[in-house]
Amino acid sequence: MAKEIVLTGVTTTGTPHLGNYVGAIRPAIEASRQDNTESYFFLADYHALIKCQDPERVKQSRLEIAATWLACGLDTDKATFYRQSDIPEIAELNWLLTCVTAKGLMNRAHAYKGAVDENLANDQDPDFGITMGLFCYPVLMAADILAFNAHKVPVGRDQIQHIEMARDIAGRFNHLFGEHFVLPEAVVGEEGSILKGLDGRKMSKSYNNTIPLFDTEKKLQKGINKIKTNLLEPGEAKDPDDSTVFDIYKAFATPEQTAQMRQNFADGIAWGEAKKELFALVNGQLSEPREKYLELMANPAHVEDILQAGAEKARARARSMISDLRSAVGLVNFK
Ligand code: TRP
Repeated sequence: MAKEIVLTGVTTTGTPHLGNYVGAIRPAIEASRQDNTESYFFLADYHALIKCQDPERVKQSRLEIAATWLACGLDTDKATFYRQSDIPEIAELNWLLTCVTAKGLMNRAHAYKGAVDENLANDQDPDFGITMGLFCYPVLMAADILAFNAHKVPVGRDQIQHIEMARDIAGRFNHLFGEHFVLPEAVVGEEGSILKGLDGRKMSKSYNNTIPLFDTEKKLQKGINKIKTNLLEPGEAKDPDDSTVFDIYKAFATPEQTAQMRQNFADGIAWGEAKKELFALVNGQLSEPREKYLELMANPAHVEDILQAGAEKARARARSMISDLRSAVGLVNFK
């Protein structure tokens, strides 16, 4: 049987944090080790341009994210790892899909609607600051997925609508030009894969409550020390299920360690002590990949070679897809 294709992209605008690691990077790398799947991971740097017009930030973030995935153990012989912008076939497919995508479908996209609503709330023109890139964001995302006929697309909850739109667009294309595309399905991680941030809300760049993944050991310690706790004193029982310290601990611990920490909370462990244990646990797991990360960051040429090799693998597949699609829509040579 043909292997199931699993594909996901990471927008290259930020620096990876613990929440990205627990929610996306670690599970994706684990899943890519399975033998019954073929994995595609890519840096969504065309998407980055929609949100970020700071070239230095885009450049730095691409390198940081690539180095992070490699340092965390992504096996690039097994998985295909590439930059979106190295695959011109994606841009070409983007156009073929744009031509069959209903504008009305794009009008319903949450991200676009959110931007319009915000403008209206601020008494602005509804289109203020909205680019065609933002409006057409879901079409480019559909191209990312359909170029490789991915079956499964692991994403966060906020991206489910985009996968549904990719299905709609694929269905429309198939209806017009024949069965070229598999209809992709979103795979959403379990609740447990969402890590809490410093303030107790979901750890997210947009809340400014993150702890960076591969900053120095000191910064990790500092980040952990900044986690908000309540005023309970040492000796007073604490509720683990209402604690960011416990939440992050659990994400890195074995079931036995988690059970022990749960007991420590009931026994009134001091916040300072709990944070010390959290730091020891997380730092223990991150120090080796951190070293690798720093090596890779210091050697961008090596990262470039890996990405170029990944792009070659990805393009071989995308090329054959796009060549079929070109004929399907009538873009054929005369001889
Ligand atoms: N939009 C996704 C996000 O912000 C990133 C992304 C781009 C993506 N293209 C994709 C994810 C294709 C899955 C498949 O998280």
